[in-house]
Amino acid sequence: MFIPYGKQEIDHDDINAVVRALKSDYLTSGPTVGEFEKALADITKASEAVVCSNGTTALHLALLALGVGPGDAVIVPTVTFLATANSVRYTGADVVFADVDPETGLMTPEHFQGAINRCGGRKLKVVMPVHLGGHICDLKAISKLAKENDCFVVADSCHALGGIYSDEPVGAGVYEDMSVFSFHPVKTVAMGEGGAITTRHKDLANTMRKLRSHGMEKSDTNEPWAYDMRDLGYNYRVTDIQCALGLSQLSKLNQFIRRRADLAERYNTRFKENKYIRLPQVSVNSQSGWHLYSIGIDFDLLGKTRSDVMAELKSKSIGTQVHYIPVHTQPYYQKQYGDIVLPGAHKYYNQTLSIPLYPSLSDESFGIVVNAVNEVMS
Ligand SMILES: Cc1ncc(COP(=O)(O)O)c(C=O)c1O
Repeated sequence: MFIPYGKQEIDHDDINAVVRALKSDYLTSGPTVGEFEKALADITKASEAVVCSNGTTALHLALLALGVGPGDAVIVPTVTFLATANSVRYTGADVVFADVDPETGLMTPEHFQGAINRCGGRKLKVVMPVHLGGHICDLKAISKLAKENDCFVVADSCHALGGIYSDEPVGAGVYEDMSVFSFHPVKTVAMGEGGAITTRHKDLANTMRKLRSHGMEKSDTNEPWAYDMRDLGYNYRVTDIQCALGLSQLSKLNQFIRRRADLAERYNTRFKENKYIRLPQVSVNSQSGWHLYSIGIDFDLLGKTRSDVMAELKSKSIGTQVHYIPVHTQPYYQKQYGDIVLPGAHKYYNQTLSIPLYPSLSDESFGIVVNAVNEVMS
């Protein structure tokens, strides 16, 4: 049986919840949307949660609500999924790529400062720290620097639901203006497709709720059918079917995180003597959301390429993945911004490999992965 690098865990409760939604009066947005938003706001301790069609549209809505547009600059660490940078381009603003720590892949305050220095004549509007693999960025220092530079913080927390930073749940909105989540199946909580933004700003939440459905608002005239559209919105709505699955999954978040953290700790113990492997590091003052278990590998010392290692593990039925190719090296971004040298990102990218981590990874499969990884890297 093939062991993938990540996968959803769906049980009978999840299936029953979806069946109930299918039998209800609502297929698209109905009462379950609000119920999901309330549950997510409670879990993250943010006062507001806005749910939408996926993590990418959630990022777009967050930037739109902050009025990001042409002429603005938004700082994005280059080691992330394409969506973080692409959401900036949808608004017409420019992406200024930040370098990352070569060992953790996270943007530090120093890398943020480096990117601020490269904003040129553009107005720096937002910085988007990415909690890569579930490991939390130094949000206190990033938010202090953001305030000094009059810019907003939108945390890409798509990997970090269930993590803790400075004794608060990720998404609480203490150090960031908004936090964005994805409920794609490989993430900690699956909705098929789904995304959300949490925030303490009611005005921003209301703007995003309006923009996710064409910019429509109930008109204050007496006509009961009337609505007004003052701003151009989108159809970024989510369905009751997806929210029913999401609600059921959210109720198991603690269990999912505990199993992920337990597996990560056991991997650490089993790999700590392997001289070719650098273990993932949990950031200070935090608990990781453990979306990924990504190790750093010294391929030169090992005398094998990453493709060799991936192929050998695949031949033993083990899936691996690389998170991520630095976004600034993608042809589209190279065409936009030319060649940019970000050495920390290149070093991180050249060494990283994600191996299987998900709650339903059985102890037997865990043992198979450990033995195979130690054998291939010996
Ligand atoms: C860091 C990060 N940001 C944003 C996204 C976009 O989320 P979605 O796939 O739900 O659009 C992803 C999804 O893979 C991601 O990993």
